[in-house]
Amino acid sequence: MHLTKEEERIYSGEQGWAREISMKILVRLGDLFDADKLISINSAHVSGVSYKTLGDAPIEFLKALADADCKVKVRTTLNPQSLDPDYLDTRVPANMKDKQLTILRQFERMGITQSLTCTPYYLAKSQKGSHLAWAESSAVVYANSVLGAYTNREGGPSALAAAIIGKTPNYGLHKARNRKPNILVNVETKLKNETEYGALGIFLGRILKDKIPLIEGLEKAPADNLKQLSAALASTGMTNMFQLKKNRTNISELERISVGARDIEQTIESLCTASTARPDLVFVGCPHCSFDEIKRVTRLAENRKFKRDLEFWICTSCHVKRRAKESVRKLEGKGGQVLAGVCTVVSWTETLGIKTIMTNSAKTAYYAPTLNKAGVILASAQECLKTVFEG
Ligand code: F3S
Repeated sequence: MHLTKEEERIYSGEQGWAREISMKILVRLGDLFDADKLISINSAHVSGVSYKTLGDAPIEFLKALADADCKVKVRTTLNPQSLDPDYLDTRVPANMKDKQLTILRQFERMGITQSLTCTPYYLAKSQKGSHLAWAESSAVVYANSVLGAYTNREGGPSALAAAIIGKTPNYGLHKARNRKPNILVNVETKLKNETEYGALGIFLGRILKDKIPLIEGLEKAPADNLKQLSAALASTGMTNMFQLKKNRTNISELERISVGARDIEQTIESLCTASTARPDLVFVGCPHCSFDEIKRVTRLAENRKFKRDLEFWICTSCHVKRRAKESVRKLEGKGGQVLAGVCTVVSWTETLGIKTIMTNSAKTAYYAPTLNKAGVILASAQECLKTVFEG
């Protein structure tokens, strides 16, 4: 991979070890994937923020980077953490909380925005055609497919290295020629809600591996449902973007597959792993809720009474929570909890005694049996709300 004189100087350590190691991570990655050069990025998004998923090992490395006065070069956002300071704080053991705060402090010292969300695109919209280095798989698929930005699926370390250097290796989805669809997917059934979009993603992710689908039949899909599709697609496969049929392309030579109503039903059935119909927690907000989704949940909850024997979490970013102040007041007044900066999958649900989770998110349904040791009931937000409220 070609390096400029300036990049070579960073590589040889002239600007300190922290920038040197960051540059070496990017060069190693670039060489591995045959990148020709480094390209500037508009933003980076770092995953591996929750102490639950990160563990102890990387904390010293993050501290060392921050101690070296290493600052990010571009706007950099963070994925969710493992607790919500306003609600879960006192219910999580002190040592776990301390470790989580230590992690956040190091990112803050590096100049990283404490966004704590997997939907950084609600904070600042990425320009179409802009190059990014994002590490949250659901956001990667959404950025490439819905926003028209260019990003590979970074890991936490490579996204952080890209943030520190302000560049990423030019390979994969940064190149227009690699963004062409190579399989046509005909969705033969009308998807009824966000959960069915998620189920489509889980189904396709398993089949496609890393192929880019051109999807026929979803031309009018709302962005919030495409967000569910993006998150689920990335959960079961390595596909990092899709296109909708409205994008004109020559499809005559593409391999074709069809997805029918039965495929969607069977996928949802396979993700329902709970042994009881009574959840301990009802959760919406994977990926983090948009402003419109919070308003919708509030509408669904109107004139209804909360059942007091379960938890109801709506997860979003601090940014959206502030914006949706009025809805938050109504939902919390009814007994729900609008949690900011955290999500069920990366939080300590086992410690809270949660054994069964009801959710509208296919991604959460896919991960919760392993990461939360919980059984899952997967159903639309409307069904979830019926469980939470009576009357
Ligand atoms: Fe976001 Fe957590 Fe889902 S990080 S995509 S809400 S698993």
